[in-house]
Amino acid sequence: MFREVLNQHAARVETCLETLFKELPDNKLSDAMRYAALSGGKRLRAFLVMEGARLYGVRPQNADRAAAAVECVHAYSLVHDDLPAMDDDDLRRGLPTVHVKWDEATAVLTGDALQTMAFEILASSRTAADANIRLRLITSMAEAVGGRGMVLGQMQDILAQTAKPPLDIDQITALQANKTGALITWAAEAGPVMSNTNTGVMRAYAQAIGLAFQIADDILDVEGNPEKAGKRLQKDQAAGKATFVSVLGMVGAKNKASELVEEACDGLEIFGGTGDNLRQLARFIIDRDM
Ligand code: IPE
Ligand code: IPE
Ligand code: MG
Ligand code: MG
Ligand code: MG
Repeated sequence: MFREVLNQHAARVETCLETLFKELPDNKLSDAMRYAALSGGKRLRAFLVMEGARLYGVRPQNADRAAAAVECVHAYSLVHDDLPAMDDDDLRRGLPTVHVKWDEATAVLTGDALQTMAFEILASSRTAADANIRLRLITSMAEAVGGRGMVLGQMQDILAQTAKPPLDIDQITALQANKTGALITWAAEAGPVMSNTNTGVMRAYAQAIGLAFQIADDILDVEGNPEKAGKRLQKDQAAGKATFVSVLGMVGAKNKASELVEEACDGLEIFGGTGDNLRQLARFIIDRDM
């Protein structure tokens, strides 16, 4: 079953993260970093790194570290996303958010430290022996998460709440490509980058599933089960957020997500059967309840 494959990949990245956290001194900050990065999560971005690495012949020990780096960035983004100044959420992965369990200052610093930790991991020769590859990983990560990527997307998401007229489908698509798509794309491209191969096939796949992923997140916000999702739902409409569901309607959003998954799978032909895990991931992304 695909869930088992997903769990195996998750266990690998978690072991790697555990090892990396052992390098930190024991204190409130490292406790909160560990809590944010190691308390569950589907590990979809880690999965993409590991599968891309397998398909492109990258050593698993190297892939695990790149997977740990992307999960650190993702965990940082969630800690900050949940802050009162942003989405003001008290539950994440079924547990109290970092600012609730500790305090806001700790949450801000935890996010900061997880982000820099990701770059430290990528900068190590244990991640890639070739310094040029490390530089590519670092540069592309900075582009994916900064003022042209995820953080820009988060800003656009906030501005969208009060935008008049509300965002149209092209504007939402552009926003989500930054907010969620850029980090997913980084994860999918890491394998070919680490083997110095063209990233085109993985990029096209990631762009399609990245969009499908955010559509599914927006759908879950409307009709998901908060127990299973491990986070508060039905918040987007209350916050006046423009989402794929608000623009396309529920049926339209579901159709769009299915089309994107088919498009993503069609692009994997060159891998034959070895691409099956990525095909199943694409389907899981829109069928999930968490
Ligand atoms: C949730 O991401 C936040 C978004 C980017 C929409 P995930 O659904 O991948 O969260 P975890 O890591 O599995 O908790
Ligand atoms: C979060 O998006 C995106 C990032 C953290 C970059 P959401 O705000 O939609 O995620 P959830 O719904 O809180 O998980
Ligand atoms: Mg948000
Ligand atoms: Mg949120
Ligand atoms: Mg959401």
